[in-house]
Amino acid sequence: MKLGKILKQIGEEMASREERGRVAGYIPELAAIDPHQFGMAVALADGRVLSVGDADEPFSIQSVSKVFTLALALGRYGNQLWRRVGREPSGRSFNSILQLEQENGIPRNPFINAGAIVVTDAILAGSTPREALATLMTFIRTATDDDTIYINDEVARSERETGHRNYSLAHYLRSCDNLLHQPDWTLGTYFHQCAVEMSCRQLARAGRFLINSSGMPQMISSMRVRRINALMMTCGHYDGSGDFAYRVGLPGKSGVGGGILVIVPGRASIAVWSPGLNNLGNSKLGTEAVEMLAQRTHWSVF
Ligand code: DON
Repeated sequence: MKLGKILKQIGEEMASREERGRVAGYIPELAAIDPHQFGMAVALADGRVLSVGDADEPFSIQSVSKVFTLALALGRYGNQLWRRVGREPSGRSFNSILQLEQENGIPRNPFINAGAIVVTDAILAGSTPREALATLMTFIRTATDDDTIYINDEVARSERETGHRNYSLAHYLRSCDNLLHQPDWTLGTYFHQCAVEMSCRQLARAGRFLINSSGMPQMISSMRVRRINALMMTCGHYDGSGDFAYRVGLPGKSGVGGGILVIVPGRASIAVWSPGLNNLGNSKLGTEAVEMLAQRTHWSVF
């Protein structure tokens, strides 16, 4: 079956679902999102972009941004980065504090909040938060080839007002000498990176640099692309990473806004969005939709 038809079918199936999960409620901007939305876009290595549903609706990419900051930090520090953050799945929720003390302030991986805060702290070195965010936005806009992508300041402000858990993680990191800047400085940048808004179509295009195929944007070396994909596969869905790998068989990174970026190495970059989350904080219908897509296209790294 043709990809366009598969997407259409998935869109129809998703539109009829009644059980859509729960929209993130920790900030008013996310709590107010209509859970009935669903969009999916596939950017293929041959240059085509196919989509279905609300694929042009911008949403808060939240933790999906951690893929872009990791790419920037690896480009800047290479393997030195791994002195400050690990590469193992955490088996815990995205904002867990527990392991950080047990493991002396070295977060398990760059995708849990503690690890992402360290990565943001790394890209901040030598610049102001505004400059670091400008570098991040240039990276995202170049990868997407779209300079209309923006940061939602209201979301960033709400994140700052409610981000007590992130403050505690950052202060703990600082107490272990694993934060170079004052927590406020690093978190100000982190909250803004989480508040980037993109549509599925834009996010799928932004992910093309991770496909590792000629003709795709070359933002980092192909060896690093492979490594980021490996981390997405093992850590991209927090304590749901094993389940996602089992069900979908592809590297993916989720965000609490209901978006997921999924890479089919050598073939495609997929973005899916549905704001209702499952009990692990990952998009419920988004996960189901990529599972269907992987089954029907036979796309898998295995
Ligand atoms: O730091 C936070 O808690 C949020 N801004 C982002 C968390 C997130 O997206 C976790 N992913 N499922």
